[in-house]
Amino acid sequence: MSLVKMTGVLSWAEKNNCAAGAFSVGNMEMIIGAVRAAEEMNTPIILQIAEKRMKQSPMHLMAPMMVSAAKNAKVPVAVHLDHGLTMGCIESALEYGFTSVMLDGSLLPFEENIELTKAVRAEADKYGATVEAELGVVGGNEGDTEKHEIMCTDPEKAVEFCEKTNVDCLAVAIGNAHGNYPVLPELCFDVLEEIYKKVSTPLVLHGGTGITDEMFRKAISLGIRKINIATASFDALAMNAKKYTETADKPDYFTLSPYMADAVYENVKKHINIFLNK
Ligand code: 13P
Repeated sequence: MSLVKMTGVLSWAEKNNCAAGAFSVGNMEMIIGAVRAAEEMNTPIILQIAEKRMKQSPMHLMAPMMVSAAKNAKVPVAVHLDHGLTMGCIESALEYGFTSVMLDGSLLPFEENIELTKAVRAEADKYGATVEAELGVVGGNEGDTEKHEIMCTDPEKAVEFCEKTNVDCLAVAIGNAHGNYPVLPELCFDVLEEIYKKVSTPLVLHGGTGITDEMFRKAISLGIRKINIATASFDALAMNAKKYTETADKPDYFTLSPYMADAVYENVKKHINIFLNK
């Protein structure tokens, strides 16, 4: 039984001066691939799904699989709701046994983001669950076509936000964006350093796909303890499925399924290796 709270995984990352990988999943094969990689690397991970992804991957099917995969894993696995949009989804995730939740109030005015996050904190506390929030605006948009302009997190506001909400981890905006970057991003490490100096709450980096190993290492040295990877896994799965169907004489699901899991396994393993910071 290895379903753990996300705070436990964050403490592990803090102690080991590394970052935990938070890997988005959308089907059974993605869960299998991610957990296999974590077990092979003997490393804790976070399995997560965003509310917007539930159009394709409904909560009532994904949640039991994710929680069960965590419980049966040989390594500690936290199960996290990424970018919750509604309080209903937060409540549902907690009921299903997610050990961590995030309600994304980053596009709201500062005070409203605080109030919303406090409400999530109160709900999560009923279950002993971890809370992540986001301050500043990360570019792109998890699971939508709507794009958001990047707005870096204000370090002073980060201090006030963490004090008032008592969140367990804070996602920061430092020039990062969801999805594939059109050009290599320039992350604002000066902003991250300022936040790290002022805030003791573990920091989270969204938009991990396309960030270089060197940038990951620098971010980890400046307090990033959780890194989200979604697009790279979804793309790897789609590419492997394409390769298989193009080369197989008669494609069949039972051969395709491990191809999909393998693609995610390789991607997760590659990222765990970088995040371990060894
Ligand atoms: P990517 O899709 O860019 O990897 O971002 C993942 C993420 O931040 C999910 O919240």
